[in-house]
Amino acid sequence: MEKTLVVIKPDGVQRTLIGEIIRRYENSGLKLIAIKMLVPTPAMVEKHYLVNPEWIKNVGEKSIASYKNKGEQPPFKTSAECGQAVLARLKKYMSAGPVVAMIWEGSKAVGIVRKITGGTEPLSSDVGTIRGDYTIDSYDLSDSADRAIRNLVHASGSVEEAEKEITLWFKKDELIEYNLVLEKILYDVNLDEILE
Ligand code: CDP
Ligand code: MG
Repeated sequence: MEKTLVVIKPDGVQRTLIGEIIRRYENSGLKLIAIKMLVPTPAMVEKHYLVNPEWIKNVGEKSIASYKNKGEQPPFKTSAECGQAVLARLKKYMSAGPVVAMIWEGSKAVGIVRKITGGTEPLSSDVGTIRGDYTIDSYDLSDSADRAIRNLVHASGSVEEAEKEITLWFKKDELIEYNLVLEKILYDVNLDEILE
């Protein structure tokens, strides 16, 4: 079983999509084991993204590649310069208002949550995903306004990131271990408890 962190970002809360977003994860069969609302500080946001030391480089490379795929010129010289700019914008974005932080648990939870969430850029994320269905932001729109991409939710990118992020956002006693009736159907080998 894996645990993963989801944060409904300030735009998700302001768009009144909290219920809709939770519904998407809940319907998958994953189990909600912790939830709270808070306003993150810029320092907290920086810590959150830097739990993965490769993140600055990766985020820069990903957005530069997206411009090149579209045959456009990226507005940054290097991936590191892009990554630093994105981090500064994220500190402003993520601390702008309340967010809802959650932990979802289940088999392969990290990948399942990423699939339901969709790709980073709403313009190109798949239809049927949260980011693809509920908003319209793009790299060029956010870069031209010098702000972060507003894509409604954060979801941990790997099991390792998830473990570090969960420690940062939640105290141990905020996680609740309990059984869900539906787990019998998802995980029980024999399905021998349905019939009388
Ligand atoms: O959130 P995700 O894991 O899909 O993407 P990331 O590469 O870890 O980037 C974290 C967040 O930074 C994104 O969700 C966007 O909100 C923001 N971002 C941005 O504002 N501009 C970029 N060029 C790339 C990311
Ligand atoms: Mg990420």
